[in-house]
Amino acid sequence: MENIAFTPGRDGVAIIDQTLLPGEERTVTLTNREDMYGAIYSLMVRGAPAIGIFAAYCLSALANQAEADEFEGLYARLRADAGYLNASRPTAVNLSWALNRMLGIAERNSRRSISEIRDLLYRESLAIRDEDISMCRAISEHGLSLLRDGDAILTHCNAGPLATSKYGTALGPILLGAERGMKFKVYADETRPLLQGARLTCYELEKAGVDAVLICDNMAGMVMKNGWIRACLVGCDRVALNGDTANKIGTSALAVNARYYGVPFYVLGPTSTIDPGCRSGGDIPIELRDPDEIKTLFFAKTIAPDGVKCYNPAFDVTDHSLITAIVTQKGICYPPYEENLPALMENQGA
Ligand code: MRU
Repeated sequence: MENIAFTPGRDGVAIIDQTLLPGEERTVTLTNREDMYGAIYSLMVRGAPAIGIFAAYCLSALANQAEADEFEGLYARLRADAGYLNASRPTAVNLSWALNRMLGIAERNSRRSISEIRDLLYRESLAIRDEDISMCRAISEHGLSLLRDGDAILTHCNAGPLATSKYGTALGPILLGAERGMKFKVYADETRPLLQGARLTCYELEKAGVDAVLICDNMAGMVMKNGWIRACLVGCDRVALNGDTANKIGTSALAVNARYYGVPFYVLGPTSTIDPGCRSGGDIPIELRDPDEIKTLFFAKTIAPDGVKCYNPAFDVTDHSLITAIVTQKGICYPPYEENLPALMENQGA
């Protein structure tokens, strides 16, 4: 089953509702832009690469619905829809990256007929997905070269197949190794407050037959101190040019612990997650979410005083000095990131 797919008429997008996993595998279809925005905001579809692919599919579906008989009308509609969808979540750069790529296709083909432009947009959205599949595959190969059979790995949030199109990034090497008969033990942080680790990572690992151990986020330091962890593998939502990396809240504390206990800390993601517009982590916008996610969600009743103030940032930035290497589809990038990341991005290969 594909995570993200067009409806048969290509005027809507079908996704697996990730908020219901692991209890229920339900596919929902989104046909208007408000529901598409809501699907991203509510994390029905989530994970930086998956958000980008979904947004590209949505823009193609909306272009197929748009009432326009000349380019200017269609393009104005597309720009408005892209701007609207782009406002759904601020941190993962893959969202604006994919939407801008779609707008660029329309812009460069302004002399073509409306039906040709619609077709090109459809093809571009599929290209974004296909490239993601091959990038995740290459990331998985590079990541696997850092691991040995029998290793125990710590991961945070969910950077598996559900967060991409296939394979995943941080879970990719583990799933690829498992396919080849290697045995890993994965300690999965539950990932408060939305529990992507408990709900999604454990679900994916269980499906793949990988030995998974669920821990609360505040237990990660202890398992590292015990000497049980060979490497930390995490995904990323936006990487600045100096290597500072935004990922799910709690990642940065994990990296501090990993440094203290001498555990290698690897960030895995496609080069589309590197933002040339961000010189350092201070330039990365951090999403703030509804306080009720901390106080109420997943609990039978509210677990904190009703009126308590909450601070609920969805991401944090890990300082580049704590990252052992950044694994992309183009290879493994080591410090100094300020020099090596731009060089990696310029490399046209892979
Ligand atoms: O809020 P989420 O669930 O979208 O956060 C996801 C993460 O932080 C992932 O680690 C990141 O997007 C990489 S997914 C390959």
